[in-house]
Amino acid sequence: MSMQLRVYVPDHPLIKHWLAIARDTNTPSVLFKTAITELGRWLTYEAVRYWLPTIDTSIQTPLSECAATLINPEVPIAVIPILRAGLALLDGAQTLLPLASTYHLGLARNEETLEASCYLNKLPPLFAPDTRVIILEPMLATGGSIMTAMEEVTKRGADPASMRVISVVAAPPALQKLGQHYPSLTIYTAIIDEGLNSKGYIVPGLGDAGDRAFGT
Ligand code: URA
Repeated sequence: MSMQLRVYVPDHPLIKHWLAIARDTNTPSVLFKTAITELGRWLTYEAVRYWLPTIDTSIQTPLSECAATLINPEVPIAVIPILRAGLALLDGAQTLLPLASTYHLGLARNEETLEASCYLNKLPPLFAPDTRVIILEPMLATGGSIMTAMEEVTKRGADPASMRVISVVAAPPALQKLGQHYPSLTIYTAIIDEGLNSKGYIVPGLGDAGDRAFGT
């Protein structure tokens, strides 16, 4: 069966609202960081629907026994923020998934070649079978960082079909590369923009997400 990359843009007023705040060049850094945190929260909320494995059980309320559903504690959840900008999405994702393990991956973009190089890798040697993986990368632009991240994660045994990428703004070049190499992957993003400028920035985009989130 041939698969095709799935890209979801949830139609949600909170996602649209915080995206508008993040895009606005007049938004100060502290509010920009809040906007990305909120986008991390609501996009994660959407991304885990129908995806996190649950178990059916029964519990005792103060009045009687009743059927209940819990998140299956035996299925590991890994959240991978791509530094720096992915850190801004982490707070929102973590509040929804407090039991997830967080593995930091630091990738820096060479502004001339637009290639990503890895300066920090806290991924485990091997992911346990069945691990659900969420990658946090706000800007899917040329695809350099996300392709490097996917390579590092899949070579440690994670299955793209069990992964979700959370982004804020996605552009066609990155989506094309992901679709070509990881057709079973699923992306959740607040918007898909038209394209890139000559420096690899997404247009209209929101500028440099890391600089704006951390005020540098
Ligand atoms: N990274 C950013 O922070 N912004 C872009 O527009 C592209 C890559």
